[in-house]
Amino acid sequence: MLCDQNSIVPTLSTFDKVIVELGIGDGQFLNGIIEYRNRPNTCYVGIEIDAKQIQKARDRLRGKNIYLINDSFENVISFFPDNYVDEFIFVLPSPNYIDINSESQWTLLYQGIYKKLKDRGTLTIVTEIINDLLEPISDNEFNSWKKWLTSKFVNIGFRLKDICDDCPSYYNSHFLAQFRADKLRIKLITLILTK
Ligand SMILES: C[S@@+](CC[C@H](N)C(=O)[O-])C[C@H]1O[C@@H](n2cnc3c(N)ncnc32)[C@H](O)[C@@H]1O
Repeated sequence: MLCDQNSIVPTLSTFDKVIVELGIGDGQFLNGIIEYRNRPNTCYVGIEIDAKQIQKARDRLRGKNIYLINDSFENVISFFPDNYVDEFIFVLPSPNYIDINSESQWTLLYQGIYKKLKDRGTLTIVTEIINDLLEPISDNEFNSWKKWLTSKFVNIGFRLKDICDDCPSYYNSHFLAQFRADKLRIKLITLILTK
């Protein structure tokens, strides 16, 4: 069993790199990343709190370098030593982990992620803005949201390595497919943040 402080490090330390995806849902995104990057000596940890979703991910993903954990990411992250993880990936966090209205709740999570990242490790976040009135997002609205979000992560200590509107075309997940189908009302960005 991987999910305790004593077993997580010895297990993962046999690999060159550790990549952690938060809230993996049914595992479609992680599956795509593993195939796209094709790095057998990298270890992939997927964390998902919903038992039904993680079962779907388990049915989809198998390999000696893949560890899927049915727990909260807050809990699992606390098991990693500081300066340990090469890359965190967070695709479409639930609103309470990224929304302007719940900022006071999520700052602590990203401070924790920052601590666990290696120097020059990265946190990739794909997230979205949706107009409250379900109208098209104006350029102004989009740009000021981007500025606000970036400044939040910079205040935590991250450096902005890259930012792109939308997300790379090889990124695929259940929710990305839904959001891409409504491009006027839902705008995506990808932030690549580094320590
Ligand atoms: C909006 S969905 C995105 C799922 C997937 N990344 C995708 O793009 O299809 C957010 C996912 O995060 C999971 N989640 C929410 N809070 C969590 C937590 N504290 N720990 C682990 N997983 C969590 C949810 O169960 C859900 O599967």
